[in-house]
Amino acid sequence: MSHHQCYCSPQTGSSKTMLRFRLCTTLLRAAIYFVMTAVVSAERVITCADVQNVQRLSCDMGVINVEAAMYGRANSETCSEGRSEEQLANTECSQNGTVEILKRRCNGRRVCEFNTNVVRTSDPCHGIYKYLETNYTCFPAIHLVTCEHSLAHLYCDDGQVIFVYGANYGRRDYSTCSYKKTASETENVYCSDPTSKVADSCNGKNSCTISVSSSEFGDPCVGTYKYLEVAYVCEYPGLSPEQY
Ligand SMILES: *[C@@H]1O[C@H](CO)[C@@H](O)[C@H](O)[C@H]1NC(C)=O
Ligand SMILES: *[C@@H]1O[C@H](CO)[C@@H](O)[C@H](O)[C@H]1NC(C)=O
Repeated sequence: MSHHQCYCSPQTGSSKTMLRFRLCTTLLRAAIYFVMTAVVSAERVITCADVQNVQRLSCDMGVINVEAAMYGRANSETCSEGRSEEQLANTECSQNGTVEILKRRCNGRRVCEFNTNVVRTSDPCHGIYKYLETNYTCFPAIHLVTCEHSLAHLYCDDGQVIFVYGANYGRRDYSTCSYKKTASETENVYCSDPTSKVADSCNGKNSCTISVSSSEFGDPCVGTYKYLEVAYVCEYPGLSPEQY
């Protein structure tokens, strides 16, 4: 696999992801386009897992890259207010697979809001009051959203080429590409299909146009009006991560 998988591949092990991520960061530092903003900021959000609680990840610049996530309890202080001792007793409780859920849901977006319910696929420690802790960085990439049945146009300045970090075809929120759409076309926000097709077609080119349709990407959710989300950077050719 080439290094373009570094940001969105949901099945990659975390240490491997970190390593690849560092390679990408190094690459970005070398790219003049982002010289001023190459510092990748680390963010942490903790949300107590009450039924109505919403976690919000957001980036002022660039796109979300989830690094780590823990649903459970790792200490007795976090989200302890008003809780009994028994509810805080287990501090080695964490659910498997939480980070994959969040990567799939949030990577490559500017803002990601979700109810803490979405990570609750099991009960890793019955009776313990749990919380969701998410660490993410804001990756300095260009964020492009294109609605279904339109053309996605990626382009760089003269002399630079496209490098795609991640692309997702589907629907991950209610509002994007919703103009004059019915509720039934926009209600499924759990339709996420990371795709490498954009990277395959565009990496190394100065500009690139892709038809955003299910005939191009396959249909991950029939009946839902979808969109393509792409995070990419422009770089000078020849600066491959292998050189660092
Ligand atoms: C998030 O980062 C902090 C600070 O580096 C660390 O202590 C914590 O364990 C991390 N959280 C997860 C879920 O990995
Ligand atoms: C949970 O973790 C174990 C050990 O790390 C792993 O073998 C297993 O596949 C994981 N299960 C899920 C559902 O991710």
